[in-house]
Amino acid sequence: MLVATEIAESFRPDRRAVLYPGACLDFLKTIQRETIQLVVTSPPYNIGKEYEKRVNLEQYVAAQQQVIQECVRVLKPEGSICWQVGNHVDNGAIVPLDAVLFPVFQKFGLQCRNRIIWHFEHGLHCSRRLSGRHETVLWFTKTDTYTFHLDTVRVPQKYPGKKYFKGPRAGQYSCNPLGKNPGDVWIIPNVKSNHVEKTEHPCQFPVELIERLVLPLTNAGDWVLDPFAGSGTTIVAALRHDRRGAGAETLDKYRQIARDRIQRAMEGTLPVRPMDRQVFDPRDAGSALTTRPWDRVKAEETPLLIMEKTR
Ligand SMILES: C[S@@+](CC[C@H](N)C(=O)[O-])C[C@H]1O[C@@H](n2cnc3c(N)ncnc32)[C@H](O)[C@@H]1O
Repeated sequence: MLVATEIAESFRPDRRAVLYPGACLDFLKTIQRETIQLVVTSPPYNIGKEYEKRVNLEQYVAAQQQVIQECVRVLKPEGSICWQVGNHVDNGAIVPLDAVLFPVFQKFGLQCRNRIIWHFEHGLHCSRRLSGRHETVLWFTKTDTYTFHLDTVRVPQKYPGKKYFKGPRAGQYSCNPLGKNPGDVWIIPNVKSNHVEKTEHPCQFPVELIERLVLPLTNAGDWVLDPFAGSGTTIVAALRHDRRGAGAETLDKYRQIARDRIQRAMEGTLPVRPMDRQVFDPRDAGSALTTRPWDRVKAEETPLLIMEKTR
C-alpha cells in the first residue's frame, strides 16, 4: 500500500504522485526508458481551445508523433498506451483524430488491441450534421506479453439466470459468476455542469473512464502517466487504485485544480461517480421536465373539455 502524500514536481521511480509544471516532451525526457506501465491521455484536438495553438494537420500530427515516440520509449514491455481523442473540426468538416494518429502508433511497432467507443449523451447540438456523441480510445500494447486483467472490469450479464439446456452441464448456470466482458462500447456520462466531478477545466475525463483502463492494464504500485494531465484525472484514477500517477501540465490554473484533486484523492475525500453506477435515465423519475409539455397540456385539458361538454 502506497502511503506518501507529497505531490512532487519531478519524476523519481519511488514517488507516488508527480505533476510536472511544463511541457510533456521536457517531462518525458526526465523519465528512464521502460518505467511506465500505462500511458493514458487526451491530447489537445487542435480546435483552438485556450490551451492550444491551432496549426495545420501535418504540424499537429508531427507534434503528436514526438510525444508518442517518447511515450513508447518510457513504456515497459508489458505496458499499454491509451490515446483518447475525438474530432478535429475544420470549417464544419470533421477529421477523426484516431484515424490520422493510428499510423503513427503503427510506425512505432505498437499493436492495437481495441478501439473503444466512449458514448455520452450531452454536448453541442449540430444543425448541419448529426451531433457528436462519441469519442474513441485507441488501446495499444508494446508487445504480445501485455498485462490484462479482464476480471477487474467485468460487468453484470443481462441474463445471469441462464442455464445450459443440453450437454453434460445441462441445468447448470452458464454465466461467468464474475460477470461478462464489458465490450468495446462504453456508455459513461461526460463531465458537464451537474457532474459531481466537474471543475473549471473544459475537457475533463470522467474518472470512471480511466479507472476502466487502469484496473485491467496495470498492477498495484505501477506507474500510470498522462502527458497532457489537465485537471489530473488520470493521476486521480491511478491513486484511487494504489497505483502511482504522473503527468505534465503547462497551464498554472489547471495545475492548481489538478493538485487539489490529487491531494483529495490521496486523502480519500474526492467525490467521484462510481464505476458501477447505471447511467441515470431522467424518464424514470417521471418529472414534468421529462414529459413533453404539449402532451401534458392535452392531458390537463381533457377533464376541462369534458366538463365543458357536459355543462
Ligand atoms: C484535453 S486536455 C486534457 C484534460 C484531461 N484529460 C482531464 O481530465 O482534465 C489537454 C491538456 O493538455 C495541456 N497541454 C497542452 N499542451 C501541453 C504540453 N505540451 N504539455 C503538457 N500539457 C499540455 C492543456 O493545457 C490541457 O489542460
